[in-house]
Amino acid sequence: MTLKSKLPEFNLDQKRVFLRADLNVPLSNGTILDDFKLKSILPTINLILQKHGKVILATHIGRPTGYDAQLSTKNLINWFVNHGYKIEFEPDIDKAYEKSLKNSDTILLLENLRFLDGKQQNDQKFADQLKNLADYYVNDAFGTLHRDDTSLTLLPQLFDQQHKTIGLLVEKELHALQKLKTPEHPFLLILGGAKIKDKLEMVMHLLNKVNTIALCPATVFTFLKAHHINIGKSLVQDDLLQFTLDLEQEAQDKNVKIIYPQDYLVAKKNLQGNLEVIDADKFSSEDMGISIGPKTVDVFIEEIKKAKTIFFNGLPGFIERKETLENINKIFDAISRSNAYCVIGGGDSVAAAIILGYENKITHLSTGGGAVLYFLSNQELPGLKYLPGN
Ligand code: 3PG
Repeated sequence: MTLKSKLPEFNLDQKRVFLRADLNVPLSNGTILDDFKLKSILPTINLILQKHGKVILATHIGRPTGYDAQLSTKNLINWFVNHGYKIEFEPDIDKAYEKSLKNSDTILLLENLRFLDGKQQNDQKFADQLKNLADYYVNDAFGTLHRDDTSLTLLPQLFDQQHKTIGLLVEKELHALQKLKTPEHPFLLILGGAKIKDKLEMVMHLLNKVNTIALCPATVFTFLKAHHINIGKSLVQDDLLQFTLDLEQEAQDKNVKIIYPQDYLVAKKNLQGNLEVIDADKFSSEDMGISIGPKTVDVFIEEIKKAKTIFFNGLPGFIERKETLENINKIFDAISRSNAYCVIGGGDSVAAAIILGYENKITHLSTGGGAVLYFLSNQELPGLKYLPGN
C-alpha cells in the first residue's frame, strides 16, 4: 500500500486544518529530550501555512490517567517559537473554536488530547467538538496509526472524502516501510522496550515474515518468567506468560529462530540504581534487567552481519541515563555498517540513535514503533481506515 497525501492538491486559503500529529516526545521535567517527531511534522505544517491555511495542531503525549503538567503540550510551545513559528496554546475546546477563526499564520495548539474532556476512544461528542474546529482533517500521526483513538478513527468520519487526507510524514513512512513489508531475507527483528503487550501480540502476526527475533530487555523477561527463570525485579507482563509460550511454539513451527541474551546490564534495586553486568543465570532478587551485556552484543552482531533486512524496535536502556546505552551503541554501530535495509523505529529507539550519532547512518529512522509492527503484520491500520485511497 502506498498512499499519497492529497494535501498538495487542497486549496487551503483561509481554511482551518485539524492536523492530528504524533508529538509524543520524551520529556523530562518539561525538557524535550528528543525532537525527532517535532522535526518530522514540519513539512506538513509548512505546506499548510504556505497555502495560508490555519493549523489546528493536536497530539497526545504519554498515557496520562488525569491532568499531568509534565505531559502538557505546553511543553512544546518554546520549541516551535525557537524554530520561528507563531503558536498559540488553548486548552479549552470552546475557546479554541473562537481562536480557530483568527490569525491563520498562527498555529493553534490544543492540549494533550488524552487530557481533554472526552473519552480516548469512540466519543461522538468529543469528535463533534473537534470537528467544529476545522474544515479539513489531516492525519500525520504515523506513530499512532495503530490506535483507534477518537481523533484518529471517529473524527475523520465526520469529514467528506474531499476534506481529509494523510499528511506528508505518513506518506513518507509508508513508502520507506514497504521494503520491510516485502523483505529480503534473512529478516532480523531486534525487539525490546517496555510496551510489551502491544508488541508481542503483533509479533505473533510477523512469524511468516521474519527469520530471527533477538529479544532484549524488557520484552524478553516475560518469556523467561514463563519458563520460571529467575529475573529478579525485571519488568514482566504477567498476563502474557502463556502467550509467550504459544509464541515460542509457533515460532518453532515456522522455523523462526528466537535468540535470548546471554548476559544483561542490570540496575540494582530500582532503575536509578548502580549498574552491573551479570550472566543470564545470575539474577539476584534486587536486579532489574535494563539492557544486554557484551557477550550478547557479540551474538547479535553475528546475526546483524547475516541479515538483509533489520528492524530494531524498543530500546533496552534509557536515554536519560546515557551509560545504559553503551552496548546498544555497539548494536547501532553494527546496524549502520550492515548492507541490509535497516529501520530503527519508535520514540526512544530513534532518540537513542540520534543521541549516539546515527541520525544519517541508518537506512530509515521511523517515528513509529508499535505502528510499524502493526503495519508489517498486514492488519489494517485503524488510523488509515477512513481516509481516501485506503
Ligand atoms: C508511540 O510513541 O508509540 C505513539 O505515540 C503511540 O503512543 P501510545 O502507545 O501511548 O498510544
